[in-house]
Amino acid sequence: MKILIAGANGKVGTILSGKLWGHSGFSPVGLIRDSRQQTKFTALGVPSVVGDLEEGISSFLPGLDAVIFTAGSGGRTGPDKTTDVDQNAAIKLMLDCESAGVRRFLMVSAIGADPNSESTRIQHYLRAKGVADSRLRSSKLDYTIIAPGSLIDERGTGRVQVAENLGFHGYLPREDLADCIIESLKNFNSVGKTIQVVSGGQKIKEAFSGLLGGGLPPIA
Ligand SMILES: NC(=O)c1ccc[n+]([C@@H]2O[C@H](COP(=O)([O-])OP(=O)(O)OC[C@H]3O[C@@H](n4cnc5c(N)ncnc54)[C@H](OP(=O)(O)O)[C@@H]3O)[C@@H](O)[C@H]2O)c1
Repeated sequence: MKILIAGANGKVGTILSGKLWGHSGFSPVGLIRDSRQQTKFTALGVPSVVGDLEEGISSFLPGLDAVIFTAGSGGRTGPDKTTDVDQNAAIKLMLDCESAGVRRFLMVSAIGADPNSESTRIQHYLRAKGVADSRLRSSKLDYTIIAPGSLIDERGTGRVQVAENLGFHGYLPREDLADCIIESLKNFNSVGKTIQVVSGGQKIKEAFSGLLGGGLPPIA
């Protein structure tokens, strides 16, 4: 499965790039927006392409089997940039995937993402993510939305709690999120689902097969 990772130079994207590269059946390509970031990907052995999601990256899409959106404007930018990247650039990528025939789309969202979020802390972020998620749900793409709790840089435990609606918030190491993304890609029953995930007591593989069943093999 040839996969473009949008946001590859980010914390999750970097971990995910390395893991996917070592995983049989997956052939990742990192989308980065500065050619100086290429050194890191060359060292990882992962091919990379340079492009900006806000400007559009449709030229890289033909021939891909899947796209993962793990980009984000980050906590240091204002609400306008959040709308530009987390919402509008994500939707642009969905539309371009539809046009290019890249059917599989895995979105990294967040617990609480909702176009009508009333959060007092990160309302603009949760609304932007929620609008993007809604657009994805109404698309023709074979989508999966992975919605983690607050991400932390600690080493992964390999154990999580997953549900379509957990009903509570929590934390998740980025390394575990990367493994959850891979588990979703491997299980075609994740298509059309939103899966919330936080740290928990179940091994990642078991948690996903418990929620989704065994699933069909991933698209070639
Ligand atoms: N932080 C949390 O607690 C939390 C919780 C739930 C979900 N999430 C979501 O998890 C995902 C990954 O998070 P993370 O911690 O890995 O984020 P991160 O380290 O901030 O990485 C985001 C990446 O997006 C890239 N990017 C931003 N704008 C772009 C553009 N216009 N074109 C191309 N690339 C662009 C950045 O590029 P540069 O490297 O060039 O800056 C960066 O590499 C995000 O979608 C985030 O919203 C985060």
